[in-house]
Amino acid sequence: MSSAPAPAVAANIVLPVNEDGSLVDRNTVATRVAGKGADPEKKALFASVIKRIDYTPKIGTELHGIRLSQLTEQQSEELAALIAERGVVFFRDQDDLDYKEHIKLGRRWGPLHLHPLVPQVKENPEVIVLDSRLSPPSRFNTNDSWHSDVSFDTYPASYSILKFEQIPESGGDTIWSNGYELYDNLSQPIKDLLEGLTATHSSDIFKVQIANHGLKAFGKLNDSVHPVIRTNPVTGWKSVYTNPVFTREINEVTPQESKWILDYINNLVAIKLQYQVRFHWQPNSVAIWDNRSTFHTGVPDFRPYHRRGVRVTVSGEKPYYDPNSGTQAKAWEATANAIVAKQEAVEKARQEAEATASAKTA
Ligand SMILES: [Fe+2]
Repeated sequence: MSSAPAPAVAANIVLPVNEDGSLVDRNTVATRVAGKGADPEKKALFASVIKRIDYTPKIGTELHGIRLSQLTEQQSEELAALIAERGVVFFRDQDDLDYKEHIKLGRRWGPLHLHPLVPQVKENPEVIVLDSRLSPPSRFNTNDSWHSDVSFDTYPASYSILKFEQIPESGGDTIWSNGYELYDNLSQPIKDLLEGLTATHSSDIFKVQIANHGLKAFGKLNDSVHPVIRTNPVTGWKSVYTNPVFTREINEVTPQESKWILDYINNLVAIKLQYQVRFHWQPNSVAIWDNRSTFHTGVPDFRPYHRRGVRVTVSGEKPYYDPNSGTQAKAWEATANAIVAKQEAVEKARQEAEATASAKTA
């Protein structure tokens, strides 16, 4: 591999290099599950919401009326639960969510992740910078690959909180895909197969960056083994947990079978439009998503426009699989039944009104 010159870095950015060059363990584990046990109706949170827009039935909700910098403890707990249920929640005009408030919100949900390579805001290493003008060009600022944040780590991300300060004149959307629904739509024999498997997630992509550009990593570059089907500890629902960027192989099968399984899952993530939600950013928009049960990718269509975002990432629990977990599909049944009952009541009322009107004219 050819070695390139050291990357040009904006003045307010520092590359995450340990001062003494020693390796530190960046892994920190959450001691509690944020959002678990929150009020199912989320009354405290919705007391401040003036408008709720569900982008699709099962993934993606935009909330108006919330200032993320001013959430109470109870509201942030209920928000954590809502994000786990809806996969990703969007907010507009969060201009007062500065680095301090951004970090404060993340810390309410768990210890903050320190990224081994992505540039960070000086003085605030918990805030990473996704800036399309940073050199060298990398996946981190084109983001055209489906992934779940830092799944290579022992305690990978539960929540990511991303705010865009600078957006392109057009393009640069982000798309999320629903891991719950991917699981729910597999046939039972494939579910049975996947539920017995584990996968190795690697940080190979960062090792390539280091080799190609002479970068130094911040702490250990981990490989981790995680279950292929993962239980979300907040919702208790099963989700598929492999991704094309970090998952290197399925451990219990042959390399050919591993490739077949991963290709099959990766393809479903990318092509199943009904699992996806797409968000168009505005300045000071914020998206917060649950990495345990969603995949995401940026859409690399915006160059040469400039895009700059800042992200705080919360470390979650060690991924686990509980065979007795529930599913989003099962939880959705009650909601779907209520929708159908409402539709039928409206139709019945319409028919009765029609019958009354025709009886009067007869
Ligand atoms: Fe990401």
